[in-house]
Amino acid sequence: MKTRIEEYLKEVENFKAEKIEHLEDFRIKFLSKKGLVPALFADFKNVDPSERKEMGQLINELKNSVQNKIASLKENFDSSSDNKKGSMDLSLPVNAPMGSRHPLSIVRNEIIEIFSRIGFTVSEGPEIEDDFHNFTALNFPADHPARDMQDTFFIEKDPDIALRTHTSSVQVRVMENTQPPIRTISPGRVFRNEAISARAHCIFHQVEGLYVDTDVSFADLKQTLFYFAMELFGEETKTRFRPSYFPFTEPSAEMDVSCNICGGKGCNVCKYTGWVEILGCGMVDPNVLESCKIDSKKYTGFAFGMGVERITMLKYQINDLRLFFENDLKFLEQFKSSY
Ligand code: PHE
Repeated sequence: MKTRIEEYLKEVENFKAEKIEHLEDFRIKFLSKKGLVPALFADFKNVDPSERKEMGQLINELKNSVQNKIASLKENFDSSSDNKKGSMDLSLPVNAPMGSRHPLSIVRNEIIEIFSRIGFTVSEGPEIEDDFHNFTALNFPADHPARDMQDTFFIEKDPDIALRTHTSSVQVRVMENTQPPIRTISPGRVFRNEAISARAHCIFHQVEGLYVDTDVSFADLKQTLFYFAMELFGEETKTRFRPSYFPFTEPSAEMDVSCNICGGKGCNVCKYTGWVEILGCGMVDPNVLESCKIDSKKYTGFAFGMGVERITMLKYQINDLRLFFENDLKFLEQFKSSY
């Protein structure tokens, strides 16, 4: 019996449990009713009285060592599962899908980046505007159609409060608070009461720019926007300016770039003209400078404004503007960028 017990003691000492279930098997093997320890106690009756003391002590030693072993291994399992809860396993593979920026954000950031390289700062302003900042300071005549209910989402009447129809309102705020030189762009959301279609939406995004200083000329305007077009669409890009009209600029123009899809040869994006319009621009009307308390005899300036949706559609050959607002992952996942 002595050798049997000594073998069991060795077995207990060497026992290792990889899983908590193995610990339970171990307990059953030694301590359950039909286990080895009760069997030893049963055999104890047959032990010679001269050996009883020693055998009794050995069986008790075995029983204790089994119990101690179970207790200490159990503790290990408990504390390692506590650790798992409290800390991260950095070696686990990551299988969460990576997000991507919205195409409008990519292009907006790229536009900001291009202008910031030549010294333009970024200005932001409120989306809910008063009549002065959205229209009056920008030289809109009282009966101008853009003030009409058809174009503008009014929130309150007398005094008029509306959702801004362009971010030129931000430039008015900049001019009110800063004396020239001013070189700033204002990206942001704008709102117009238009029917939603493949080419128009009632919410869209603009980046407008303003440069006011002494001796700013139309040549500065052309050169700045030519640089911008080449940076955005590539070095081969050509630009052309067509006369246009805006209440807040005089003279005014619209800028076309050579179609980046067919390279100017003619395709359905440029309607076989080889050119696509990307922005409006012009020299800031002296009335606008005066409304913002800037001396129009001392300073001149140029301004421009572009729609981010339109430029994104050209850059990525997207033919329906509504895709930008549907949040369809199959569409959005195609855009990966460092911007
Ligand atoms: N504010 C004009 C628009 O929303 C764009 C523009 C800005 C045109 C500056 C000329 C100069 O359409």
